[in-house]
Amino acid sequence: MAFYSLANLADLYDGFAAAYNISGQRLLLLQDEGQVFVIENRCPHMDAPLASGKITQGAIVCRAHGIAFDLRNGRARGPLSDTLDCLRFFPVVFEGNKVGVDL
Ligand code: FES
Repeated sequence: MAFYSLANLADLYDGFAAAYNISGQRLLLLQDEGQVFVIENRCPHMDAPLASGKITQGAIVCRAHGIAFDLRNGRARGPLSDTLDCLRFFPVVFEGNKVGVDL
């Protein structure tokens, strides 16, 4: 595993989202309700990038077809919750004033 710095902690805020390509991984760093997440920048529905998704009420809503994915458990909300894969989470790492990911 290696640490990759993604952003300064001071730059994050609720609703923050930024996409990165690192080591062949499409990553999305985001913050919601004070909690920081790194997820794959790919919607489990039909692979649209989630970077333009709306972060609201503990979920990220994909712009392509409007499915909301819960940021606490990764599951889709609504009728497709049992059929879609979950969001893929990566380990968030805090080092000093930086936030990053272990890959
Ligand atoms: S690709 Fe995201 S909701 Fe369809």
